[in-house]
Amino acid sequence: MKEIYRTHEANQLSKETIGQQVVVNGWVQKRRDLGGLIFIDLRDRSGVVQIVFNPDISEDAIRLADQVRSEYVIAVKGKVVERSEETINPKIETGEIEILGDELQIFNRSKTPPFPIEDGVEIDEMVRLRYRYLDLRRKNMQQTLLLRHRAMQSIRRFLDKPGFIEVETPMLTKTTPEGARDYLVPSRLHQGEFYALPQSPQLFKQLLMVAGYERYFQITRCFRDEDLRTDRQPEFTQLDIETSFLSRDDLLALMEEMMVDLFKDVLNVNLRIPFPRLTYQEAMDRYGTDKPDLRFAMELIDLSDTLRNSSFKVFANTIKSGGQVKAINVKQCAHWSRKEIDQWGEIATSIGAKGLAWLAWREDGVKGPIAKFFSSEELAAIASRAKAEPGDLLFFVADRPKTVAAVLGELRIRLGKELQLIDPNQFVFVWITDFPMFEYDQDEQRYQAMHHPFTMPKREDLSLLKTDPSKVRAISDDLVLNGYELSSGSQRVHEREVQEQIFEVLQISEEEARQKFGFLLEAFEYGAPPHGGIAFGFDRLIMVMAGRDNIRECIAFPKTTNARCIMTEAPSTVDQKQLDELGIRARKRM
Ligand code: AMO
Ligand code: AMP
Repeated sequence: MKEIYRTHEANQLSKETIGQQVVVNGWVQKRRDLGGLIFIDLRDRSGVVQIVFNPDISEDAIRLADQVRSEYVIAVKGKVVERSEETINPKIETGEIEILGDELQIFNRSKTPPFPIEDGVEIDEMVRLRYRYLDLRRKNMQQTLLLRHRAMQSIRRFLDKPGFIEVETPMLTKTTPEGARDYLVPSRLHQGEFYALPQSPQLFKQLLMVAGYERYFQITRCFRDEDLRTDRQPEFTQLDIETSFLSRDDLLALMEEMMVDLFKDVLNVNLRIPFPRLTYQEAMDRYGTDKPDLRFAMELIDLSDTLRNSSFKVFANTIKSGGQVKAINVKQCAHWSRKEIDQWGEIATSIGAKGLAWLAWREDGVKGPIAKFFSSEELAAIASRAKAEPGDLLFFVADRPKTVAAVLGELRIRLGKELQLIDPNQFVFVWITDFPMFEYDQDEQRYQAMHHPFTMPKREDLSLLKTDPSKVRAISDDLVLNGYELSSGSQRVHEREVQEQIFEVLQISEEEARQKFGFLLEAFEYGAPPHGGIAFGFDRLIMVMAGRDNIRECIAFPKTTNARCIMTEAPSTVDQKQLDELGIRARKRM
């Protein structure tokens, strides 16, 4: 029998097509038998359309329709008819019409799927990942991947106009300096040697600048063997960009325009530019994090000056020994019960706090276990700094600045969610600027580059490279959206002496530098233009645009948090023959 293929997609059928003979192809969403009549909801990529089989129209068709089950793949030929008033279904786009089926072809049968192919049903994620091809049949997964596709095309169109060209860079390469562990690929031809999968195209895009390409971009996969979280995958996609002869401010402005264009094009959302900027230090001080969610306030308030001489020793002693006391004002929550407040205390200690002190501005006075330590003047001073009004609750953390930031930053986010202070329909961008160039690694007892070693320090801080590296700020900017780090970028070092000083701080010897990135350093001796660039985490961008809170929902075939693909069962053991060819002996698992 010859297959009959579609004349229309489901959603192309409407009142305008009434009376036409059409063919639709797709999957059976649902079949209902209503006393002689059989109704089938057929689903294709565009939507769903209802088909009615009537024994008066075709005996053959209704006999086949009776055999059909969910997820069978079928073709139906028939006439589009208007539905009677009472059978109109406003929930589907084709709800005003149906097809009177006079021919049915079953292309393929289906086993009963392990879960219904519809949105809004709770399904264990492991089952979804095991049967990802069925999960991807669901409407909201298709919509997310469609959004991803549209965003990709939109960005490509945007960047093409001002002359960016997309260049592919190698996947089998050498280690790249992004600070995560590499995924290694053993070489068969050079036994005992390995390629590394790129953690980013960083070195190649800089080489393209030396090569004179001036404006490069690439939407490409990056690989990092690191601890996974809801916004991290071992392989993920970057929108990677590099430019020459373009100031940092012009680059940021261009990226803002790209976001405006993208959000308008794909979501019909109008963003306002320029995006606000916060220095790294301001962000840490006010929000306790370098990726603040600015959809709500609840800023961290530094009370160290006010509480320096407090008779509550935990506060006074912490401040004397170089720590801080900071608070957040939980507006109008003074009425919370002891139990509720204690639960937040437990969360605080689980994040690393030694405790969570609190004061509640209640009707009958300022209450809390530590209230007795403060005079009324001190309470008034605290209230004034923290803008505490009757009905407000203050949470305090006293500790090293790093711990205070981590604990209050996290509590702020959790409280914002809990108290529904966050508007899920808002997109709030902020640039975080002036990152420290280096971060001291206590374990290794040495400095690490906060971004990467090719980031340019601020001119005015260059002299600090020799005297106090911890104070050197970088010309480096992150774009943050709704509390997620969307992108990182920087101006690059293009002068050899500066690069050497940076390697010195990082304790990278000349020998090691030559071995790791000698090709880049050599290239820099042949006329490197001033250049800078940025890379967006594309999956994260889509996650926020699609209103999802997990990056796995935006990737067709993602890995689990322990870096497995449940469906293909990768990673897996390989044949002895393959290992022999590679000259690799696998050790028994410990
Ligand atoms: P960076 O390492 O900050 O910078 O990466 C850029 C952006 O990529 C995203 N990202 C990730 N997304 C998902 N899973 C991961 N494991 C993951 N790791 C990073 C983040 C991040 O902001 N070469 C530099 C960029 C440059 O300087 O031009 C780089 O890779 O959104
Ligand atoms: P204590 O005097 O240890 O019983 O503590 C009194 C209150 O202060 C308790 O609510 C503790 O949770 C809180 N607390 C203790 N240490 C700290 C700290 N470092 N920062 C904030 N609150 C603390």
